Amino acid sequence: MKIIVYGVRDDEKPFLEEWESNNQDVDVQIESVLLDVVSVSKAEGFDGVVAFQQAPYTAEVLDRLGAFGVKVLSLRNVGVDNVDFPAANRNNIKVTNVPAYSPQAIAEFTVTQLMQLLRNTKVFNHKIANGDLRWAPDIATELNQLTVGVFATGRIGRAAIQIYKGFGAKVIAYDIFKNPELDKEGIYVDTPEELYRQSDVISLHAPAVEENEHMLNDQTFAQMKDGVIILNPARGTLIDTDALIKALDSGKVGGAALDVYEDEVGVFNEDFGSFDAIPDERVKNLLKRDNVLVTPHIAFYTKTAVKSMVNTSLDANRDVIATGDSDKIVKK
Ligand code: COI
Repeated sequence: MKIIVYGVRDDEKPFLEEWESNNQDVDVQIESVLLDVVSVSKAEGFDGVVAFQQAPYTAEVLDRLGAFGVKVLSLRNVGVDNVDFPAANRNNIKVTNVPAYSPQAIAEFTVTQLMQLLRNTKVFNHKIANGDLRWAPDIATELNQLTVGVFATGRIGRAAIQIYKGFGAKVIAYDIFKNPELDKEGIYVDTPEELYRQSDVISLHAPAVEENEHMLNDQTFAQMKDGVIILNPARGTLIDTDALIKALDSGKVGGAALDVYEDEVGVFNEDFGSFDAIPDERVKNLLKRDNVLVTPHIAFYTKTAVKSMVNTSLDANRDVIATGDSDKIVKK
């Protein structure tokens, strides 16, 4: 069988080589380019495609893969929001993902960013760089004094809850699908409004779906406590960025850690050479603020996660080619 792997980074190569040496009957071709309308032609003659990108997997690309007889597209990540599923389905291309490469990677990063916001590290770093070694006025708040509202309690939300509890925070949560163990603890509130009303910190862990696009907007920010801290390591579309900027300006939102941004494709994971050259005014606006941490979608980026992404996606691709099935198939 033949598998082509797109968008391969140097840090993934050792794991890919290890997988290849354990699967010598599989012919693996490694490509650094992302999968798009031009590079798709490389997939001709392959049974399976493995890819990792935030750019869309469009109908045009999927139609070409279908015409080449590709049976399966395996994403090396969890989110499937950039896949045109109607096109995959009409081309009989199965789509697999890596549902749990390391929930802890995201959860640990989210809490790290919260701690930095609470302890004013960005402010202190600027002060220290300018020779100002005074404490005041940047007195911190302790996490153990706060209520953290976790929006969505899938694997990542649950991993985050464990860490928040370890710090002694009060944790409440909202999800349409309640986790039975958490439910027993009485952690759930009944509505997002209740979560917004009670939380000092809102930690977002939902996948991007049509229903939650811009769920944090002018109206929902108005329902929150003054000075609320917003953490988004999930998907940029959850937040209306213009509304967030207004809420930061007014002080309604007291801080934010954003590892995702609704227009991040083509901006994050690129080197523009200087701050001024970053081609997105809203990102620059947010980056300039001492109470906002913007990171370029790096919460997932750990050795544990990358190894798991490579192995799980290639295993799933191989299994679907060989048997037509895998427990990593995503149906939509
Ligand atoms: C995901 O796994 O869906 C992520 O958010 C990682 C991202 C860099 C695509």
